Amino acid sequence: MIWKSERPSNIALIKYMGKSDIERNKPSNSSLSWTLDHLKTTVVLEQINGVEDVWEPLPTDFPFPMSEKGKQKYLNHFKRLKDHFSVKGSFILRSGNNFPADCGIASSASSFAALTEVSCLAFSELSQKKIDIYKKAELSALGSGSSCRSFLTDWVMWDGEVIKPIDSDIKNLQHMVVIVGEDTKKISSSQAHKIVPTSALYQGRAERAEHRLNDFVSKMNKECWPELFQLSWEEFWDMHALFETSRPAFGYFLADSFDVLRSARFFWQQEGDGPLVTMDAGPNVHLLWREDQVDLSLKFFQENIAKRWTCLTNIHGIGFHKV
Ligand code: DP6
Repeated sequence: MIWKSERPSNIALIKYMGKSDIERNKPSNSSLSWTLDHLKTTVVLEQINGVEDVWEPLPTDFPFPMSEKGKQKYLNHFKRLKDHFSVKGSFILRSGNNFPADCGIASSASSFAALTEVSCLAFSELSQKKIDIYKKAELSALGSGSSCRSFLTDWVMWDGEVIKPIDSDIKNLQHMVVIVGEDTKKISSSQAHKIVPTSALYQGRAERAEHRLNDFVSKMNKECWPELFQLSWEEFWDMHALFETSRPAFGYFLADSFDVLRSARFFWQQEGDGPLVTMDAGPNVHLLWREDQVDLSLKFFQENIAKRWTCLTNIHGIGFHKV
């Protein structure tokens, strides 16, 4: 028997960084993300007669390699899902993205969400146990925290217990990620969660993030766009400051990350308008534009990005890798 599912990735504007319970991926603070519907992982599950579960890359246009450690984390999560449904037997898991793996986008959210989704589909059929979307998201969080936000659209909040969509008149955001470096992460985000409590700035971090999230949600309307930019900007710097002040310090910025950020800041100053800007645990810069800003985003792209970097985007008319 074969089952197939896909789930999108998401980008957090208010970050999940730091855990109150490492084993169960309980976050120290609530987070808020935008679901990236165009960046997806597909997982195909097949029952086999073997003695153990195995993972293989799915043959897509963009197959992705997985480290031994990554594979183990993925298979462990799969085992957890089997146990949840009391399903026995062995399976082969095949996963792949609809975007290139060498482009520096961490795909842990979409890959864990897609694995949870396809396993719940298969195991609810095999065990006759029903499961709703919130329970799926909760199970997915045990594999990788940020993946639980990939079960809902568009704006999604997760406080460690509740995962819920947040209503806003800001819809159909256009996404652009400027690829300044390949994702050869020395420190994974899971490791980062463990190290950040050593930073002196970790004191008060949960309060700052909660405060910023409440502020952000109360301003989630088109009129407050410049304030949302300011809050997202402060938030990713806050997270990266934690990294750089941890003991030992670590970080993800490349020189080009600063160049892109500076261009975005100048652009806002010149135009009085611009994108929401954020960075994850990597060197690449994510830009989110309102649907009425397509011309502005093309202008920014032509003036600042096109000649120097690859850009992965769902904006019509641009893109080295349009997805
Ligand atoms: C910086 O969800 O990858 O992307 O729960 O250990 O798998 P684990 O961590 P993960 O952490 C994501 C961190 C982040 C911010 C975010 O997505 O909120």
